[in-house]
Amino acid sequence: MSSYLDAARPETVPDATSRFRPAIHFAANDTWLNDPNGLVFHDGLYHLFFQNNPYGNVWGNMSWGHATSRDLLHWTEHPVAIASDEREDIFSGSVVVDHANTSGFGAANAPALVAVYTSAYKTGSEHSGTQAQSLAYSTDAGMTWQKYEGNPVLTRNSPHFRDPKVFRYHGDQGAYWVMVAVEAQHQKVVIYRSEDLKCWNFLSDFGPANADAGEWECPDLFPLPVDGDPDNIKWVLIVNVNPGAVAGGSGGQYFIGHFDGARFLPEAGSLAAPAGLASLPDPAARAAALRQCLWLDWGRDCYASVSFSDAPDGRRIIIGWMNNWDYANELPTAPWRSSMTLARELRLTTVNGSARLTQEPVLPEPAANEQMNAGTFELRNSAIRLPDAVPGSAHIIAAEILPGSAERLVFRLFGSSDGSKGTTLSYDAASAQLILDRRNSGNTSFHGKFASVETAPVDLEDGVLKLLIVVDHCSVEAFVQGGKVVLTDLIFPETETRENWLSTDGGSATILKLAVSTLS
Ligand code: FRU
Repeated sequence: MSSYLDAARPETVPDATSRFRPAIHFAANDTWLNDPNGLVFHDGLYHLFFQNNPYGNVWGNMSWGHATSRDLLHWTEHPVAIASDEREDIFSGSVVVDHANTSGFGAANAPALVAVYTSAYKTGSEHSGTQAQSLAYSTDAGMTWQKYEGNPVLTRNSPHFRDPKVFRYHGDQGAYWVMVAVEAQHQKVVIYRSEDLKCWNFLSDFGPANADAGEWECPDLFPLPVDGDPDNIKWVLIVNVNPGAVAGGSGGQYFIGHFDGARFLPEAGSLAAPAGLASLPDPAARAAALRQCLWLDWGRDCYASVSFSDAPDGRRIIIGWMNNWDYANELPTAPWRSSMTLARELRLTTVNGSARLTQEPVLPEPAANEQMNAGTFELRNSAIRLPDAVPGSAHIIAAEILPGSAERLVFRLFGSSDGSKGTTLSYDAASAQLILDRRNSGNTSFHGKFASVETAPVDLEDGVLKLLIVVDHCSVEAFVQGGKVVLTDLIFPETETRENWLSTDGGSATILKLAVSTLS
C-alpha cells in the first residue's frame, strides 16, 4: 500500500533482539504497535487490526496495522489497512460485520466490514484540534479499506473524544447499532445509537466512577450469562484507564451492571467509589478503594483490552496490549516494539455472591508438548527444578497446590543457577496475595519505572491454589483460581538465565499437580 510517507519507511534492519520476540504472542514484524483495534471474526479468520507506526518503532504516524489468524495463536501480518495521511491519524476503534447492509456499503448477500475509528485531526486540517468518529469499509473481507467520503460521522468538537466500540443491540425496539466511546479527560463513557452507522444520536453517558485518576480510554460493553445461565444475563463495561491503574500507569477496569438499550446501570457491588476515586479526600481511603475496583489484570502490562465482534459460538474473547504507557516507547527491542496479550475468553462467574469476570487464555487443546507432569508430593522448605526455558518456545505451567504450612510458594522464572536472578511469582500465605517481583528479572534499567513488584489478592478454594502461568520470551501471564485473578508483566531476561524452579519457605506444601508444556 503506498502512502505519502512511504519514503520514510526504514530499510529492513536485522532483528537485534529476536530472543525477546514472543513465540505465541503477536508482535509486528519490524514496527511499533499499541492498542488492538477492530477485532472481528469473519469467514473463518480472526482479524487483529492494531495501532501501528508503519515507519518506526515509537508511537507516531498512527495507522491501523493488520494481522489474521485461524486459531488466535499463529498470526500473519498484512499490509497496513488504514493509513495515517496529511489530515488525520487513525486512532483506535472497532469493526463490525454489517450483515443487514444497514450502511449500504456492501450487499445483502455480501456484507461489508465497517471500521469505526477515531480521526485524530492534524494541525492545519479542517477539524484541527478535535477527535471525531469516522468510517472505513471493506468489501473484500477486510483486506483493503476505503474511507467513507462523509467522514467524520460523529463529532462533539472535542479534543479527546475517541475509541468507538460498536455492537449490534437487539432490544424491544428491534435491532440498532450502539457505540460506546470516551470523553477521555472527563472520565466519561458516552453512548450513541445509529440505524445505519452513519448518523448517530446521543443516548447517555457514564462516569466518572471507580478508577478515574487518568484518562479513560478504549471502552467495551457486552452481555454475558452468569455461570452459563442464559436466563441470567449481565452486562460488562470495560474502561481502560491511564494512568491510575492498580499496578501503576495503564490498566483495565470493569463494571458489572445492566444495559437497557440506552443507559448502563452499574450494580452497587461493582462500585468501589461511585463518584470516582478522585472524590475521596483521604489518600488512604483512595488507595484502599483502588484495590476494591474490579480489575481485568493486576499486572503492569495489560492495557486497551477489547473484545472481538462476531466471535463464533457467542464466545467473548478479548486481547489486550501487553505494555504500559509509563515506559512503552522505551522497551529494549528493535526494530519491533511491543506485543499483544494472549487472546482470553471471558466468562461471568459468581464469586462470593457477585458476578465477576474470569479469563481463560486461548491455548491449544491438549496443551502441546508436555515436558513434565508431577504430583502428588510434599515440598518442605525445598525446591524442585522445572524444565529450563527454551529459545523459540513459550512455557505453560499448570499447578495445583495446597500451601499447607508453607509461608511462601515461589516460582522463580528465567533464573540464574546461583538463584540471585530471575522473576519471582509467589503466593504469600500471611497476606493471601500473589506477588510478582521483576526487580531482578534482567534488563530493567531502560526506564526508571520498570523495576517493580505487583500484588493481587487471592482466595484459596478448599485450601487449594490453582495457577496457569504462561511464560513467553518477554512476558509472564498468570491466571489464578480459574482466571478470577490475572496478572501480566513484561520481563527482559538475560541470555544466560534460563532456570525455572518451584520452592517453598517456612513449612510444607502439597503439590497436587505440576505440569509443564512448551508451545512454539
Ligand atoms: C490508548 C490510546 C487510545 C488512542 C490510541 C492512540 O492506548 O491512547 O485512546 O486511540 O491509544 O494510539
